[in-house]
Amino acid sequence: MKGFDGRFLEELKNKSDLVSVVEKYVRLEQRGGNFWGKCPFHHEKTASFSVNSVGQFYYCFGCHKSGDVINFIMEMESLDFNDAVRLLAERANMKLPEITYDDEKVKEQKQKKNRALDLLRDTAKFYCNNLRLPTAEKHNAYLVKRGISNAVALKFGVGASLNFSSLPEHLKSLGYTYQEMIDAGVVGEKNGRYFDELGGRLIIPIIDRFNQVIAFGGRLLEKADFAKYKNTKETFVFSKSNTLYNINNVKKIKNERGLSDLIIVEGYMDTISLVSAGFENVVASMGTSLTKDQARIIKRFCDKVYISYDGDFAGQKASIRGLEILKEEGLEVKVVALPDGLDPDDVIKKQGKEGYQVLLESAKPLIDFKLDILKKTFDVNTVDGKRKYVTNAIKVISESASSAEQDDLLKEVRNVTGTTFESLKRELYGLEKNKGEEKVVATPEFTDDVGDKTVVASRFILASYLFGKKYATETDIKSINFSLPVHKEIQKYVIERLESGQTVRFNDLYEIIGENEKQELSRIAGLETDENKKFDQDVYFFDCLRTLKIEEINARSKRLSKMFKDETDTEKRRKLAQELSQLLSLKNDLNKNN
Ligand code: UTP
Ligand code: MN
Repeated sequence: MKGFDGRFLEELKNKSDLVSVVEKYVRLEQRGGNFWGKCPFHHEKTASFSVNSVGQFYYCFGCHKSGDVINFIMEMESLDFNDAVRLLAERANMKLPEITYDDEKVKEQKQKKNRALDLLRDTAKFYCNNLRLPTAEKHNAYLVKRGISNAVALKFGVGASLNFSSLPEHLKSLGYTYQEMIDAGVVGEKNGRYFDELGGRLIIPIIDRFNQVIAFGGRLLEKADFAKYKNTKETFVFSKSNTLYNINNVKKIKNERGLSDLIIVEGYMDTISLVSAGFENVVASMGTSLTKDQARIIKRFCDKVYISYDGDFAGQKASIRGLEILKEEGLEVKVVALPDGLDPDDVIKKQGKEGYQVLLESAKPLIDFKLDILKKTFDVNTVDGKRKYVTNAIKVISESASSAEQDDLLKEVRNVTGTTFESLKRELYGLEKNKGEEKVVATPEFTDDVGDKTVVASRFILASYLFGKKYATETDIKSINFSLPVHKEIQKYVIERLESGQTVRFNDLYEIIGENEKQELSRIAGLETDENKKFDQDVYFFDCLRTLKIEEINARSKRLSKMFKDETDTEKRRKLAQELSQLLSLKNDLNKNN
């Protein structure tokens, strides 16, 4: 048992329709009896995340995550069960019942957690008060040096640790045990003596989105040959990987006036500095490269982010990886290019807020930024450098999902290298086909004039038979389901020929086919030109077969789901649902085997 009673949870689920809850995070499209979208839990290009509205459960055919509306919120918001229930209740305007704990352990943990949060809050107050004492002279001088006003210090709850002993003494006087102080991460012990982990430092409290102090960062006031910052260790209330500095203030902004984008910086001081300069929508990843949890939290706040890392971060692979994670969460990512060696705080100090504003406005999409890095990495004036630049640039460009964007970027590479657009495009196409992760069948260039995927696929399949390709004649044409009557006609011809032991000849068919069908036949013949030597025809042939199968399944699912909707008999409905889900897994297999 989880603490909430069953009736309450039932009502909560009834009031929290899964489809509408999911739609807040994922764009869904109704297909068959289910809703489909790109899975929010793993990176994918095609939608394999399904939401069953009747059964109120979701299932991802890609990563196999499944569950109900509460599980969904737990995953999306990185919340535990109780907090997910709270959040849903809040959204559904439902009052929470008194939690009845029938599990002593849960109750105990909750109490321990609350106790730790109280201790951390008392610690924060203590540090803040210290800052007002005359003995905090050095700390105050440091704030002045860094341009942090009293008002800003107050806003961020900045404090001071004056020595190593007074924090444990103070907490003791408030009734906390040493073990509690150690568990909360603020006090350490050595040879029976208890000491302030951040003794002597300037203190920056880390506050979570529920406005709870969960940890501290402590900065040395002077240069030293060891780390200038020390943070509270990981505790049961603080995990760095799902924490963003300043998220509490950002949440307030979002609730009060909405938030269109977020600036992500590395450091505490960058955050404080940008906020003082009037850029309030800032969070800090606190040095390490971004984690998936952090990206998910960000996604909850807005859809667009500006990465504003130190000027030299591009050289670090880990940082770029962090940015990929943001993209994977579906965020629009722009990169603010800072001068080498400067962080946002330095820029504000040196160039003022106007200077930073200019950089912000000229932020580039992640993919452009990556190309820029490549341009700096390779010397395109040498043959070898140019070659490497092109190879790497094509790789980067292939990550784009939009062919219009790809074309724009290819043109940029063309401008830099003088290589022709067509050859760059060919190289890109070759790469995409080999990668095999694009689940939609790649269409070769010569089919630009025709829209429908299945028609294109059908033509290529038929051409392969009509021109006697080995990979085709070894495949049973009878099992293929063409949709256009003219394609069915051609199929019939091919079957007759093959069954009577004759060779299939394009010219023979051209003689006997009706005038109206000739035009289509010419299109098919057009596929057998030099153009299509550029790709692996056999691979493409099987891609086309798969396309037809998937389309067939789609059509069948559509019919079934209509029947499902119209059917009133429960048993028959159940059977239809079963058949539907079999079809879906069949389709999933087809996609996977790509
Ligand atoms: P930076 O060195 O860029 O920090 O590290 P900063 O905020 O610019 O530092 P100063 O005060 O202006 O010199 C970025 C972040 O990485 C974490 C901190 O969260 C810091 O804000 N960090 C850095 C540590 O945890 N420990 C360190 O020793 C250094
Ligand atoms: Mn700095």
